[in-house]
Amino acid sequence: MYAVETFELSKFYSHGRIKALQDFSLQVEKGKIFSLLGPNGAGKTTLIKVLIGIVHQTSGHAKLLNQSINKVSVHKKIGYLAENHRFPEFLSAHQILHYYGKMAGLGPSQLKKQIPALLKTVNLHRWENVKIRKYSKGMMQRLGLAHALLNEPELIFLDEPTDGIDPVGRRQIRDLLKSLRDEGVTIFVNSHLLSEVERMSDEVAILKQGKLIQRGTVEDFISIKEQYQIRLDSADTMQNICNDMKVPIKRENDLFTVSVQDDQQLNRLIDRLRQSKTMILAVIPKKITLEDYFIDIIEDKKGESD
Ligand SMILES: Nc1ncnc2c1ncn2[C@@H]1O[C@H](COP(=O)(O)OP(=O)(O)O)[C@@H](O)[C@H]1O
Ligand SMILES: [Mg+2]
Repeated sequence: MYAVETFELSKFYSHGRIKALQDFSLQVEKGKIFSLLGPNGAGKTTLIKVLIGIVHQTSGHAKLLNQSINKVSVHKKIGYLAENHRFPEFLSAHQILHYYGKMAGLGPSQLKKQIPALLKTVNLHRWENVKIRKYSKGMMQRLGLAHALLNEPELIFLDEPTDGIDPVGRRQIRDLLKSLRDEGVTIFVNSHLLSEVERMSDEVAILKQGKLIQRGTVEDFISIKEQYQIRLDSADTMQNICNDMKVPIKRENDLFTVSVQDDQQLNRLIDRLRQSKTMILAVIPKKITLEDYFIDIIEDKKGESD
């Protein structure tokens, strides 16, 4: 079953001049950490806002947990951490969870049970009575996460949860999200931070100018372009062979970097080099990060609006 399904979802602002989201179709499986990656202005926040009913789509439709997003009842099963969220600074974490919990319709016994458990989950229990104006950005994000979990949601949307947080704080949030995922919660993360996405996501989609450009697992992204560096004693035939095999190639002196589809293609390339009596001095696998791949895609012309 899918936690999120969108069908050619579009959202235009300013009388159609700004196409924040264009024909966006996607499925997110339940029980995964799914990340939507894209530069600022790509349309990530707009997508979450449409899904949770803060703004209305221009066209297309979507389902959350197998129910249409128009159904109010689905909202009860969803948690949301907004980008740059704010809570009243004169309240403590405990007061905030109590106040928002009551607004979410939790009864006194639920509040009594849920709040200490949540504060423990997000590791704020020792700070629960301290006014939040003393909190770091990481603590604020963890409090936001506790707030998003108040109604024990099956699906949570987190908009840039680790933005502006130091490495230790980021790691705490990543670990927290993974343990929630292991308990069966589906986590939909918006992020422009590639290294974060790479570390925690089961699946990733890349959004650029409102359009879905690529999706897959982190491994898929990396293996799409397996790169090898090949050192040769003579460069004479390499370029021709690669052109012939349609293998992208970059050259730095006697070191070539080739992007091959798979091991078979690499072996065919080596066979061709040996047939041409080229001496191969080294074949070195080059692991490309999602970041390299993301930057390739973002800089590439494909996916740009018409
Ligand atoms: N309320 C709005 N009115 C007009 N334009 C908007 C509004 N909200 C967002 N946009 C525009 O829509 C595009 C996508 O924005 P957004 O969804 O916030 O992207 P992201 O979250 O990926 O940074 C941007 O060009 C942004 O300026
Ligand atoms: Mg955003």
